[in-house]
Amino acid sequence: MRGEGADQRLDPWGKTNIGGRGQKMEPGAPHECASVRPPRTKDWPANRRFLTIRNRCTERGTWCFSDSWHAMTVVVAFVSRKGGVGKSTFARALAAVAARRGLVTTLADLDKDQKTSSRWQRLREKHQVFPPLTVEAYPNIDAAIASEPDADLLIADAPGNAPELTMEIASVAHFVVQPSGACFDDLQPAVELFYQLKSSGIPKSRLYVALSRMLDPDEEEAARAYIEVADFSVLPGAVVERARYREAHNRGLAFIESPGEDLAASAGVALGALLTKIIRKHRALRPRPENAVALSQPS
Ligand SMILES: Nc1ncnc2c1ncn2[C@@H]1O[C@H](COP(=O)(O)OP(=O)(O)OP(=O)(O)O)[C@@H](O)[C@H]1O
Ligand SMILES: [Mg+2]
Repeated sequence: MRGEGADQRLDPWGKTNIGGRGQKMEPGAPHECASVRPPRTKDWPANRRFLTIRNRCTERGTWCFSDSWHAMTVVVAFVSRKGGVGKSTFARALAAVAARRGLVTTLADLDKDQKTSSRWQRLREKHQVFPPLTVEAYPNIDAAIASEPDADLLIADAPGNAPELTMEIASVAHFVVQPSGACFDDLQPAVELFYQLKSSGIPKSRLYVALSRMLDPDEEEAARAYIEVADFSVLPGAVVERARYREAHNRGLAFIESPGEDLAASAGVALGALLTKIIRKHRALRPRPENAVALSQPS
């Protein structure tokens, strides 16, 4: 974490304290290995833990995966089957609020054709928006995770309608968030994608729909009911459709940073709920003090 308390002006989440990063071992230090890296097979999503490995096992001389200190980066993926539902919009807003909260955050732009987040980052730099964010384009999630070992939070902005890439990204993410509009045209593919991810072995508890581009409370309520009947989780709150959000994007701002935004309103509630889950997960991933001491002893 860095920048703790650096700018609290837009920070409604300041009461939550994520704490320090915990003890960290040097690469190559002895540690307990759960197993060697499994081969990438057809059913590889079930082996998703291998991507959390950042250390070379000194005993086996090979890559290993472990529940120890390696996996401290919380990975949040914004995915969808449909395009234009708000993945990049949510991803940018989460990056902005997480950075303000003091999390070391990288927004990984995995949409190599559109590069929406990367282009937006250039606008952010041009307009000198505070806080500066780390936005990097990566060809896949493996490369993003491997390149960002020190991040508290890695946000994956996935392309729409990319089944294989979506499966890869979702299988390593701690939270898979799918924005959806209120129309049946959006809700049905959203639910179908989650059924597909679930049947591939991704725990349902990691899957969340985020209501996006809502126009009135009635359609928000109907959309929430639709997702809940399908037995998937919906984040509280919703992002409403506003022209000023598009203007904000044009100036390198996240929608949540747009002038006049009420952070206690529905969109802030959705982002705040997600941020709270991220902070809890980050705490859970940190090594317990007794493990850190045991692991730091030479074998
Ligand atoms: N709540 C909103 N209000 C107004 N405009 C919005 C809102 N959400 C998204 N937009 C606009 O809609 C367009 C699509 O949004 P966004 O790029 O976030 O979708 P996406 O799911 O990432 O799309 P793609 O699948 O093409 O990557 C953008 O121009 C964005 O500025
Ligand atoms: Mg996008």
